[in-house]
Amino acid sequence: MQDVIIREEERGDRVEILRLLAGSTLPISDLAEAPNLGDDTEPAFVLAVRGNTVAGCAALENAGDARLLRSVAVSEDERGRGIGERLVRERIASAEAGNVQTIYLLTETVPVWFERFGFQTIPRAEAPPGVRESTEFRSLCGEGATLMVRRGP
Ligand SMILES: CC(C)(COP(=O)(O)OP(=O)(O)OC[C@H]1O[C@@H](n2cnc3c(N)ncnc32)[C@H](O)[C@@H]1OP(=O)(O)O)[C@@H](O)C(=O)NCCC(=O)NCCS
Repeated sequence: MQDVIIREEERGDRVEILRLLAGSTLPISDLAEAPNLGDDTEPAFVLAVRGNTVAGCAALENAGDARLLRSVAVSEDERGRGIGERLVRERIASAEAGNVQTIYLLTETVPVWFERFGFQTIPRAEAPPGVRESTEFRSLCGEGATLMVRRGP
């Protein structure tokens, strides 16, 4: 079996990303099929790729001075192998490399899993304006979604 490589999204990857997210019942309606890669209004995706197959993905979206971690998914047949962890740690490192320490996320499924990366649950009322304005917060993640924040290493 070939090793998994973590790399940034390239042109032509988005169809596979959308397929993976939809298969994981995560929101896709605000994700363009042909994104303007490198545009800072677009979520910045990294992929886990095994051979020619996309095994996982994770994205960082700008949210004011902070970032929103979203669209973290691993295909069912690749789960439990540390791929999700590699993707999340890479996105955290990327935010920190850009001098951003504060990362938010919304999850309806795995708040306990995200605690291992230093995220803590906070009331939705504490979401800063940049997060409130995000499509995820306003419409895609239901009222029941847990808001979490990681404020630094
Ligand atoms: C959450 C997800 C990304 C994890 O990916 P993964 O590659 O399987 O994760 P890893 O292999 O790095 O971690 C697996 C670990 O998480 C644990 N885990 C799995 N589901 C969990 C849950 N619901 N709550 C807490 N821990 C969980 C596993 O027991 C395993 O623990 P271990 O490391 O002690 O053995 C994957 O299950 C997934 O795509 N889920 C559907 C989409 C989703 O809910 N995404 C998150 C919302 S944005």
